[in-house]
Amino acid sequence: MNRIEKNISLKQYNTFGIEAFANEFISISSSDELIDTLKNNQNSNLFVIGGGSNMLLTKNIDALVIHINNKGKEIKKEEDNSVIVKAQAGENWHEFVLWSLNNDFGGIENLSLIPGNVGTAPIQNIGAYGVELKDVFHSCEAINIKTLERENFNLEQCKFGYRNSIFKNEAKGKYIITSVNFKLSKNNHQLHTNYGAITQELKSMNVEKPTIQDISKAVIAIRESKLPDPKKIGNSGSFFKNPVISITDFKMLKKNFPEIPSYNVSDKEIKVPAGWLIEKAGFKGKTFKNYGVHKNQALVLVNYGNANGIDIYNFSVLIQKTIKRLFNIDLEREVNVI
Ligand code: EPU
Repeated sequence: MNRIEKNISLKQYNTFGIEAFANEFISISSSDELIDTLKNNQNSNLFVIGGGSNMLLTKNIDALVIHINNKGKEIKKEEDNSVIVKAQAGENWHEFVLWSLNNDFGGIENLSLIPGNVGTAPIQNIGAYGVELKDVFHSCEAINIKTLERENFNLEQCKFGYRNSIFKNEAKGKYIITSVNFKLSKNNHQLHTNYGAITQELKSMNVEKPTIQDISKAVIAIRESKLPDPKKIGNSGSFFKNPVISITDFKMLKKNFPEIPSYNVSDKEIKVPAGWLIEKAGFKGKTFKNYGVHKNQALVLVNYGNANGIDIYNFSVLIQKTIKRLFNIDLEREVNVI
């Protein structure tokens, strides 16, 4: 059983690389240990941290920080064409993707190289290149913080949406996810290569009949060319969500900006890439002191070293105000500001 430590720096526990201190900190390596910790600290304020890849710290955490670090991946059930695989919450997401590819299990190759851990992936229904976690999600186990019972959530119960789930809404702060079950394909893999950049990348790799491993390689190449590696430049991936606006508003925008890209959502609404809006507003590559907007992807805010969380937060507010003024669009943050 790990011990609670006092006054611990969280710099290495958040991919933005922001310095902030936890009043109390414990790293747990099993769900039993988590339950014991919760039992012994029932009056403490809690703050749960996984891969720390979707948060911007703007202050010290006056709480018991619980770092979810339980490991393990196993095949739970095999059928002719599919397999149920269980991964513990503390597993690194990309290592889990690589393990699946080594076993020739398909479904998450498009989600290669997404930072973060398995246990936090369902919270915001991670997604990239035409695939979302919900497409392969089977169920997850979570500890109810109040009752300390283990509860299971199936696909329907998780209420997944675009970068959204029950864990960001009515279940927020009430559960800690300890493991996730995925349904992956064993053969006849369904490939998702329609996303423009993937088709192009496979072509430049001279691949005509891609395997799931080829798709993963293509995704890794695209991500590495656009998105900064958090180990080198602190960041939390996309800082904002892509806004969904009404078709009427979109038609007006298109008059002024005929080249604006868009993705269909329904016959009333359309999604516009926030990265395009931010670039158009002149922020791409913009750098202040030690933070700024990444030069290859305007949706990513970066910490070039020792940046202050409040500075980055204030900068994000400036971006939001500018986008509102120029395009009359409200940008919503994807990253959790703490
Ligand atoms: N664009 C620009 N300028 C930029 C960035 C993008 O004009 O600086 C335009 C591109 O030209 C393209 C469109 O915006 O027409 C979309 O760009 P991209 O394919 O890079 O994807 P995105 O919409 O910016 C989303 C996800 C990413 C995910 C990619 C690929 C959100 C908030 N972000 O970004 O997810 O990797 O699609 O599927 O939905 C994340 O959530 O942290 C993340 C990185």
